[in-house]
Formats: sequence, structure tokens, C-alpha cells
Amino acid sequence: MRFIKLIKQLASNFATSNRATLYSWRNKKTAVVIKDVGFGRILENKHAIVTGGSSGIGLAIAKKLIECGAMVTIVGRNPEKTQKVAQELNCNHIILDLADTHELLEKVSNYIKDKHIDILVNSAGITDKEPWLEKTPENFDLVMGTNLKSVYFMCQTIAKHMIKNEIQGHILNVSSSSSMRPGWGPYQLSKRALNGLTLGFADKLAPKGITVNALAPGVTVTPMTSSFMDSENLAYYNPLRRAETPEEIANLAVFLVSDLGASIVGDTVMITGGSGMFTSSR
Ligand SMILES: NC(=O)c1ccc[n+]([C@@H]2O[C@H](COP(=O)([O-])OP(=O)(O)OC[C@H]3O[C@@H](n4cnc5c(N)ncnc54)[C@H](OP(=O)(O)O)[C@@H]3O)[C@@H](O)[C@H]2O)c1
Repeated sequence: MRFIKLIKQLASNFATSNRATLYSWRNKKTAVVIKDVGFGRILENKHAIVTGGSSGIGLAIAKKLIECGAMVTIVGRNPEKTQKVAQELNCNHIILDLADTHELLEKVSNYIKDKHIDILVNSAGITDKEPWLEKTPENFDLVMGTNLKSVYFMCQTIAKHMIKNEIQGHILNVSSSSSMRPGWGPYQLSKRALNGLTLGFADKLAPKGITVNALAPGVTVTPMTSSFMDSENLAYYNPLRRAETPEEIANLAVFLVSDLGASIVGDTVMITGGSGMFTSSR
């Protein structure tokens, strides 16, 4: 009996462990301890494409998918950075400016021609920083082109591939809690539309066995936010009083691109530390 108990204890230690990671914003450092949940080799033999896999949330997702047994191809724009990350992760890569739709269609279609892609994660994205009344048409088009149009055509390209090859795959879009906020800038608008795109592709693809969802992080510690946030205003955003970590977002991503999330369809799953509680009194 004691032996069985010991084995059970060892198994549970293997599945979950506490990992403290030190994150820094400007001059301040904060330790965040997250429970690192092992999913085993749940994605063994799956091939995933992760856009934005060279940084932040996309990078954490790429790492976690690899840890779960998947073969991963990351898509990045900066050649040196993308190659370096691909080398570190020992995975494949595509260098591509997703804002250029024709380049996207050509490079991605060529890349997947002789492959079997089971998972697409669209994490690449940019934000806009201009004040409300100073947004320019060029910036509007760039944000929309990167965050929305590119996702539409990545989904279209991979959907065709999955249908043709009868792959019961998963598509996961990285939206944002900003998608639920007033659309006074292209960033919020692009993410609101992304939630609609997710519903639309899910509607068309669910009958073919392809599952499409989105996840919507709140403020997460990545290069995107570290350039304009400090630890105090990051903490302001949610009742948890801290930003999310990319690893926490990656755990949810595994759930949504595996059979664990089988009946979640067309949904945008929030992961915000409670920042949806807009009306909570402080
Ligand atoms: N961080 C947050 O607080 C937060 C919150 C909610 C939602 N999100 C969303 O999460 C996603 C990832 O953001 P992040 O925080 O991880 O940002 P990040 O660290 O800045 O990473 C962005 C990634 O997107 C790639 N990318 C951007 N434009 C591209 C283009 N035109 N072509 C190809 N690749 C491009 C970048 O590649 P290069 O480095 O090569 O340019 C990089 O790999 C975004 O969609 C973002 O809107 C982030």
C-alpha cells in the first residue's frame, strides 16, 4: 500500500510543479510563481504552425507545444531573430511579413504543400501607440493588416489544406481582452473583429471536424507590453494585481489545440486575471 501511495505521489509531482519566474518591468522586478502543469505528450505526432513564435506569447506557446510532443514551425518577420529562436527551440521556421498578404499566400502555401499541418496558432500581432485623435490611415491599415487580414488568410490557407487532407485539426487565434473594450483604436477594433472571424471559421469548419477558437489574454509580460508599461500600471488592470505570464497563456493554448477542449467551438476564452470585471470598485 505504501509503495502505491509513493508512486501516486511521485506521479503527481511529475505532473505539476511550482516554478518561479522573475519578470522585470523597467527597474522593478516581480517574482511570479505559477503551477506548471505537465500535459504529457498530448500533442505527439502533431505538426503546428505558430505565427509570432519568435517572441512573447507565441514563443511560450511554441515551447509548450514542443514540450507536449508537437513538431513546430514558427513564423516571424525579423530573419535573425526568427532563425535564432528556431535554432534554440530546434524547430522549423518561415520568415515572412504577414502584413503582405501575397507573400503570406505564396510562402505558406508552398511550405505546407507536402506536409500534414494539424494545428495553426495565430499569435503574431502589433499594437498602436498613437493618441486617439492622431491615428493615421497608414497605421490603421498596418494594424488591421497584421492583426486581422493576415489571420483571415492564414486561416483560409490552412483550412483548405486541412479539408483537402481530411485533417481533424485545430486553429487558435490570439485575441485580447481589448476586444471587449470600446473600439477607439485599430488595435481594439482588429481584436473585436478577430473574435467574429473566429466564430465565422468555427461555424464553417466544425462540421468538417476542425476546431477553431480564440483566447484573449489580459496584459501579459512580453516585449509588446514591457516597452510602455511599468509594474504599477500593469498591476492596476486586474483584481489579481499582476500581469499574466506567457507560460500561463501557453497552458490554455495546449488545452484549446488538443482534444481536452473538444467541445469548445468558436469561443473566445478570456485569460485576464479578472480584468473583465470592468465595473468592480477599487
Ligand atoms: N502582451 C500582451 O499584453 C497581450 C495582451 C493581449 C493580447 N496580446 C496579443 O498576443 C499576441 C502576441 O503578442 P506578444 O505580446 O507576444 O507580442 P510580441 O512579443 O511583440 O511578439 C509579436 C510577434 O509577432 C510577430 N509579428 C508582428 N508583426 C508581424 C508581421 N507583420 N509578420 C510576421 N510576424 C509578425 C513578431 O515577429 P518579429 O519579432 O519578427 O517582428 C513577434 O514574433 C498579439 O496578437 C497580441 O495582440 C498580447
